[in-house]
Amino acid sequence: MIKIMFICGTRPEAIKMAPVIKKMMDHTDEFKVLLIATAQHREMLDQVLEIFELKADYDLNIMTYKQSLSDITIAVLRGLERIIEKESPDYIFVQGDTTTTFTGALAAFYHKIPVAHIEAGLRTYDNYQPFPEEINRTLTSVLADIHFAPTEWAKKNLIKEGIQEDKIFVTGNTVIDSLFMVLKKRKTILNRKLQDVLNKENSNIILITAHRRENFGEPLKNICNAVIEIANKFNNVQVVYPVHRNPNVRNTVFNLLENHSRIHLIDPLDYESFVHIMNRSYIILTDSGGVQEEAPSLGKPVLVLRNTTERPEGVKAGTVKLVGLDKDTIVNNVAKLLINKKYYNSISQITNPYGDGKASDRIVNHIKNVII
Ligand code: UD1
Ligand code: UDP
Repeated sequence: MIKIMFICGTRPEAIKMAPVIKKMMDHTDEFKVLLIATAQHREMLDQVLEIFELKADYDLNIMTYKQSLSDITIAVLRGLERIIEKESPDYIFVQGDTTTTFTGALAAFYHKIPVAHIEAGLRTYDNYQPFPEEINRTLTSVLADIHFAPTEWAKKNLIKEGIQEDKIFVTGNTVIDSLFMVLKKRKTILNRKLQDVLNKENSNIILITAHRRENFGEPLKNICNAVIEIANKFNNVQVVYPVHRNPNVRNTVFNLLENHSRIHLIDPLDYESFVHIMNRSYIILTDSGGVQEEAPSLGKPVLVLRNTTERPEGVKAGTVKLVGLDKDTIVNNVAKLLINKKYYNSISQITNPYGDGKASDRIVNHIKNVII
């Protein structure tokens, strides 16, 4: 029996770890699973744990209003110390590139516990884009002992950085497993207001999410102004915008977009509802990492509101287009998708390069075959 400790802090980590945790929990004879929530996110993390019926064994509850990167790092490192000492796990699993990810790996290293990193090897090779994720994931790779890379490209990046090839396993991205789990459930409860928007006849839903730190200020204002122009230009468009809880996002978005009859600002949706609305959308605009990976499985074109991406596979496949942060460029790209049906169809029929829904099986089997 080996003891595996999962550390997660934010919405995307929980979504992407959930299928691995659940799969391991199916093997109680082989694994003792512990889930540690740093709660770098609070409500947004709880929404995910609830959907996947997971309960944290320990909850550090570190989130504070407008927390700084140092606040998170210090609180996670301190909080994990006593738990790792008490539980003495055989392996610590971290996922992705948040500050919880990096700090969790560092805490494991300080206790000489081997680290497995899910979604290893994503890179832009620009330290400030995305910030601080590029450095979080690079440092996590330095600390990790097993690297579960989602794609061959990610594996190549790790090899270039000197990681031993026999420590890297290409699995696909676990987010596709989560997406399929949720799609299978088919019982989606959306709030009434949103249901009314979706029920409007002959309308195209444009779904938007944006939360990256490097987009705060002018870039986010450009995004909002582009959204206004799109809504004004196309009167069959309904914009649905679940606004991230980060106050740096909310203040700008609510100031600029409130009170437009076809722009609907709502709170972050639980994962099930969000997948449902992705499925009902015509176009998705986002600076999120996870959404870039999921949307192609639903045949939805994604316009990425960033200058660079660590996920070039989608761009290469043609399911995702990097449109940057210039207002007119965003508007023109949306217009092209709305007007040119042939172009739209060519994008929406491409297969997803990020996974087949079996990444968590591969991760759990690897741990069973190689470690136990
Ligand atoms: C974090 C991650 C980012 C990830 C994103 C996913 C870091 C530094 N950033 O960014 O990599 O892409 O999560 O969403 O690790 N807040 C709430 N309730 C919540 C969540 C956040 O009120 O449930 C507010 C709090 O005021 C908090 C602030 O948002 O201080 C920022 O949260 P934080 O986790 O520091 O950064 P994110 O921008 O969410
Ligand atoms: N998501 C969600 N509710 C929302 C918006 C997004 O459940 O209102 C999901 C989305 O499907 C994806 C994940 O959250 O799986 C992405 O999280 P986020 O954009 O916060 O982080 P990133 O992927 O950029 O790190």
